[in-house]
Amino acid sequence: MQFFVDTADIAEITDLAATGMVDGVTTNPSLILKSGRDIIEVTREICAIVPGPVSAEVAATEFEAMVAEGRALAEIADNIAIKVPLTWDGLKACRVFADEGRMVNVTLCFSATQALLAAKAGAAFISPFIGRLDDIGLDGMDLIGEIRTIYDNYGFATKILAASIRTPNHVRDAAMLGADVGTMPPSVLRALAKHPLTDKGLETFLADWAKTGQTIKAAG
Ligand code: E4P
Repeated sequence: MQFFVDTADIAEITDLAATGMVDGVTTNPSLILKSGRDIIEVTREICAIVPGPVSAEVAATEFEAMVAEGRALAEIADNIAIKVPLTWDGLKACRVFADEGRMVNVTLCFSATQALLAAKAGAAFISPFIGRLDDIGLDGMDLIGEIRTIYDNYGFATKILAASIRTPNHVRDAAMLGADVGTMPPSVLRALAKHPLTDKGLETFLADWAKTGQTIKAAG
């Protein structure tokens, strides 16, 4: 499973990229607002830090304007994935971009039939929003499973990018169901490494090691 970070915070992206765990980045208008930065400038900086796909979302809702905005975003760097909403205009724009050889991330997906349309439109990524489905009393994981089955049935190459991830359990469950990518806030990526028994076990080992009085000398 690939890990993308869902943020436009340069300090967070830089810090996490150093772990070697960041395969890409997703942004959206709300995250750009939160960053307080100009979309072009901040996205250019992100693309220079992370070589993998960096999703930048169009703000237009009408086909022609979406195509114009998407092409402008794609000029930022070669690793841009143009993010379009799952509307008919977005799907039409997706087909245009895909035919031009550009990566497209179709976002705001809440049903398996929407995901089927995105794959048929040539999307590189489909973004089902797990957390937002959970928020309204549904189970976002059901959607991941449905999309996996449908894409496998027909051999679609579109990657399932599990989005709106809120917890490490979301990451585990999406991975169990075969999501290709999970995009998550920096806090969730950091939390993946945490376990109280790891902390407790390490504490005991360090205490016992100190009692041995030994040191391990560096090689060479
Ligand atoms: C994905 O690309 C979206 O930016 C993101 O995952 C949305 O998450 P949220 O529902 O927590 O805002």
